[in-house]
Amino acid sequence: MRPFGFAAPLVIAAAMALSAQAATPEIAVTIDAAKPGPVINRNILGQFAEHLGRGVYEGVWVGPDSKIPNTRGVRNDVVTALKALKIPNVRWPGGCYADEYHWKKGVGKDRPATINSSWGGVLETNAFGTHEFMDFVDQIGSEAYVSVNVGSGAPQEAADWLEYMTTDQPTELGKLRAANGRDKPYKVAMLGLGNEAWGCGGSMTAAEYVHEMRRFSNFAKNYNPAQKGGDQKMLKIAVGPDRDDYAWTETVMQAWSKKVWSWDIDGVSLHSYTWPKTSEQATGFDEAKYASLLKTTLWMEELVSKHAAIMDKYDPEKKVGLFVDEWGTWFKVEDGAPGSSLYQQSTQRDALVAALNLNIFARHADRVKGANVAQMVNVLQAMVLTQGEKMLLTPTYHVFRMYTPFQDARFVPMTYDAGTYKAGDVSLPRLDAIAAVGKDGKLWLSLTNLDPNQPLRIDAAVAGYVAAGAKGETLSADQMGSFNTFEAPTRVTPKPIAVKASGKSAVLELPPHSVTVIGLAPAK
Ligand code: AHR
Repeated sequence: MRPFGFAAPLVIAAAMALSAQAATPEIAVTIDAAKPGPVINRNILGQFAEHLGRGVYEGVWVGPDSKIPNTRGVRNDVVTALKALKIPNVRWPGGCYADEYHWKKGVGKDRPATINSSWGGVLETNAFGTHEFMDFVDQIGSEAYVSVNVGSGAPQEAADWLEYMTTDQPTELGKLRAANGRDKPYKVAMLGLGNEAWGCGGSMTAAEYVHEMRRFSNFAKNYNPAQKGGDQKMLKIAVGPDRDDYAWTETVMQAWSKKVWSWDIDGVSLHSYTWPKTSEQATGFDEAKYASLLKTTLWMEELVSKHAAIMDKYDPEKKVGLFVDEWGTWFKVEDGAPGSSLYQQSTQRDALVAALNLNIFARHADRVKGANVAQMVNVLQAMVLTQGEKMLLTPTYHVFRMYTPFQDARFVPMTYDAGTYKAGDVSLPRLDAIAAVGKDGKLWLSLTNLDPNQPLRIDAAVAGYVAAGAKGETLSADQMGSFNTFEAPTRVTPKPIAVKASGKSAVLELPPHSVTVIGLAPAK
């Protein structure tokens, strides 16, 4: 969102008159800013960068000798783009790859090549290791969410990695880190205790995983003096369920409820992709497929609600967060790309998927404390795609940028009758919306019009807040399947939207299949 002032009187944006045509459906929305809810944890806008396809190599890391402009090997164009997203954390090195990763091979001068057996058996040079990842995270202004190897590693290996990264003492590992170029301890904001232990992370039962997880939680200690407690404390995230595996959540939470002093977790993960069929490509779909994909993605609401209800039983004080640390669309790999690269385009439909999921996480802000979209660059529902020296921003990128005011904003209840958009047998709400008071004091609304055929007029009545004016932007597109290409990289780009705002009301018209974010500035 570009910065904007509110010098104008209450009625603004007169230049862009609203077209209140009789045929345009209208939804009345009520917002009660006097009843603020929980804080929407900024970590719901987290990202994920796995050693997979061109996600890390090429997408982030080109090496210091590349002709692609870079800083210490990390490409500058990607850093500039990602910086604007104010990314709270980046999950790394996997994914499945985390459970075959041995960190010592990725530090120091002599790095042996290994095989990435999770993703196509490709050669892994280990050129991008701990120091390069931390440098990248620093360059984009984010924080590290490191996943340790539980599947094929040992607690000692994880403990050593943590000591290497975080100690300020002259231990053997502390001295090794300094000799490798980093004197000060790194900050590890979040620690993943394995990944998908029920699948690629070791094919364990929930009980087997709990047995392992307790030991890893016990021994993987953060020694950074700046992370001793408070809001700097490293969060430990246990492997949670695959989609609707409620029994897994039950087992992990039951174990946590009986824990002893020597181990703890701060979160349980949930993985759920919007996975239509891997035979379907990301582009070239019709309205029936558009609607059915949005229906599929809305399953997230049921998943989060049911897992949260189980967590409530064991943790009524909500000490353990639900971290949806893998989500997003998963289509057939683009023609011409290797099958294991998980490279796909991202359309306006993906932008709506992003907004709908972020809205679900925000509505469950009392329990959902983090989420990581899969994945950041060149993999699945990416923010950024690269081709040699070229880079483009996807429609999903724009949604993440538009949502930055919701980071650590306070959720505000909103009521409306969403209406219905129908496509064949599929019925969807016409509108999906959230509201929050941002750290900047503004009242922020996100409004998604799911109907690809009609605009939608919004008549918002606000209680407990007096607006001095409003501004916003909308991400719409000619077609629901529009996307950016390296030849036309700005085809789908947010544009300013006209909002008619008086003290306690705001009126605007949402284009078909669009995501709109507006900010109401408080009257002085
Ligand atoms: O994001 C791609 C893969 O999907 C991850 O490596 C794995 O955790 C999940 O199955």
